Order: sequence, then C-alpha cells, then structure tokens
Amino acid sequence: MGAAVGPAEQDIVDESAVLESLPTAMLVIDVDGVIVRANRRAREILDKPDLVGTPAGDILGPWPLPRTADVARSERTLPRRDGTAITLGFSMSSLPDGATTIVFQDITPWQRLREERDRLMQLAMVGEALPSILHELKNPLAALNAAVEILIEETAPGPVQDQLHAVLQEARRLRLGFDGVGAVGRALRSRRYQAVDQACRDSFRVLEIPARAAGINTRCDVVDLPLLPLDPAVVRAIVFNLVTNAIHACSPGDAINLHVRLVANGLALALTVADTGTGMTHDVYSRCTELFFTTKRNGSGIGLALVRQAVTEAGGELEIESVPGFGTCITALVPVVAAPRISAPTP
Ligand SMILES: Nc1ncnc2c1ncn2[C@@H]1O[C@H](COP(=O)(O)OP(=O)(O)OP(=O)(O)O)[C@@H](O)[C@H]1O
Ligand SMILES: [Mg+2]
Repeated sequence: MGAAVGPAEQDIVDESAVLESLPTAMLVIDVDGVIVRANRRAREILDKPDLVGTPAGDILGPWPLPRTADVARSERTLPRRDGTAITLGFSMSSLPDGATTIVFQDITPWQRLREERDRLMQLAMVGEALPSILHELKNPLAALNAAVEILIEETAPGPVQDQLHAVLQEARRLRLGFDGVGAVGRALRSRRYQAVDQACRDSFRVLEIPARAAGINTRCDVVDLPLLPLDPAVVRAIVFNLVTNAIHACSPGDAINLHVRLVANGLALALTVADTGTGMTHDVYSRCTELFFTTKRNGSGIGLALVRQAVTEAGGELEIESVPGFGTCITALVPVVAAPRISAPTP
C-alpha cells in the first residue's frame, strides 16, 4: 500500500499545479535576490529552461527593481538570445519573510504601439506647424530667386554667370521640395485654367539633375497641352513625389520616364512616372499608399498617400503597377475639361 497523501500535502501539490498553469508569468525571489520559484510562463517569456537558483539580477538586470510602495509596477527592456529585445511589465509585492513575488507579462507589442502613437503625434504636430514654416521659408526664397535672376541678366556670360545659374537651380529645387510636402495637401482642381505641361517639365527638369548625378537615365515625354483647370503647384508636387520615389528605387543604369498626355478623347489627363528600379514586393505594393507607410530609413510615408488623396479628390484615380526586380509605373488619371477655345470674332 502506498503512503496516503494528507490534506496539507495535497494543497501544496495543487498550488504548484495552479502556478504552473497560470497564463501570467510569476517569479518568487528570496531576500538574497535568488529566484526560488518560477512558473512555466516565466520560463517561456524569459526563454530559460530553468530559473530556480539563478540570481534575479542575472536574468532581469539590476536587482532589486525600483519600487515606490509595497506593490510596485515597473517596466524593463531586456535583450533576447536571438538579438531582439523584449519589454516586460512587472508587478511586485513583498511576502512576510522578505521575499518578493513578481508577476510579469511581455508588453513588447504595446511598447511598439506606444512608440507608433508617439511618432504619429510628433508627425501631427509637424503637420500643424508645417504651413506656417513653409510660408516663412517661401517668401525669402522667392526674393532670393528674383535677385539671382536679375544678377544673371546683369552678368556677362562666363564662369560667374555659370555659378549664378547653379545657385538658381538649387533655389528652384528647394522651392519644389517645399511644394512637394506643402502643396499636395491643396486641391488639385482649380477655377483657373493653367499651364500644366510647363509645371510637369519644370518639376522634372529640376529632379533630372540629382537623377543623372546618380547615373540614372531620364526622359521627359510631356506633350503640349491646352490650359487645364488644375493647380500647377499641386501638379508639380505630384511629379516631385513620384519622381523622387522613382529616384530612390533606381540604381545606376536604370531609367525614369515622365509621360504626360491627354487620354479618353481629351477628357482626362494621364501623368505617368515609370522607372526600371527595384519594384515593390506584394506586401509593399498593397500598403504603399497607406499614410505613414514607408520602407525607407528616413521616409515619412506621406508622399504617395498625399498624391492619391489629391488625385481621388479631383475625381481621378491612381493606377500603380509594380514588378519586383523590374520596376514601377504609376499613373495619375484625372478627368479634365480643357479651356474653351476663344474663336476669333467674325468680321
Ligand atoms: N517607384 C517606386 N519603386 C519602389 N517602391 C516604391 C516606389 N514608390 C513608392 N514605393 C514604396 O512605397 C513606400 C511609400 O512611398 P511614399 O512616397 O508614400 O513614402 P516614402 O517615399 O517612403 O516617404 P516620403 O513621405 O518621404 O515620400 C516607399 O517607402 C516605397 O517602399
Ligand atoms: Mg516618397
């Protein structure tokens, strides 16, 4: 006959089983800072097959954890064996014998969400301040442009005039950059009929300089268009964003082509930027127009979202084709009605 299990012993067995099955991680650490109890979830989260007997400081970093009251909460980010980091949220309480019970969970996903929220809040603040910053920068820039243009006219052809042309080119590039972030938020449609073909060529010409410097071939295929009821600053911003993305995707020897023409019997403007760069994976393709989606270290993920918004608000659509390893072709298709031709008065 085996020994009978008394009620007290039965309780201990049950308690261990309960602790072991808890979905929350739990550790008991004695007065000397050594782990004396660890449940299954704690071993899983901390990725250690055995924790009992190990100094808490070796596992959780400097011990004891900071606390302000008998029950304290804190967080700590720890390195994992695979090189990634894990953030743990702790809740601690003291036992009568001086030991400490720690209950904790993996809050890495929450931590990422918090970081994302902070990033979005920062971007929102930048977004609010941006119009006034751009306004402050654009006025002196316009004055600078005008002054350099006059100097060019008054200077004889030669090295000094060449330098001045270079300064003017850079100043124009700066203005386009401001347009690129500032103007896409404006409406693409305009009450006035304006020269959209010139806006496309201007924007492309300025970006051709860095593209060619990077060994990328460029082609500007913009047909002469009638005046159209579109804001040229917004058109410049669309070209700026699409071509800048194309430059980022291209390597030396690749090509970027801007093709602008009327389609649908002259009832729609088609603005296409095609590149032979990296192309997009299926995942990037499905998210590329999402606000704040970016695959670039310093990208903000605003460009394509704003371009799509400008185009769809004008009643058009943004068509994106991309093949990884072959390139990307993005077309902004906008319905337009050209300015009525003013016929000469009959004599
Ligand atoms: N021509 C392209 N070729 C390959 N990938 C592209 C191209 N255009 C856009 N993408 C992908 O779509 C993502 C989103 O583009 P988007 O212009 O919105 O943001 P971004 O370029 O990353 O940042 P920014 O706000 O500075 O423009 C890019 O990070 C890139 O991964
Ligand atoms: Mg971009």
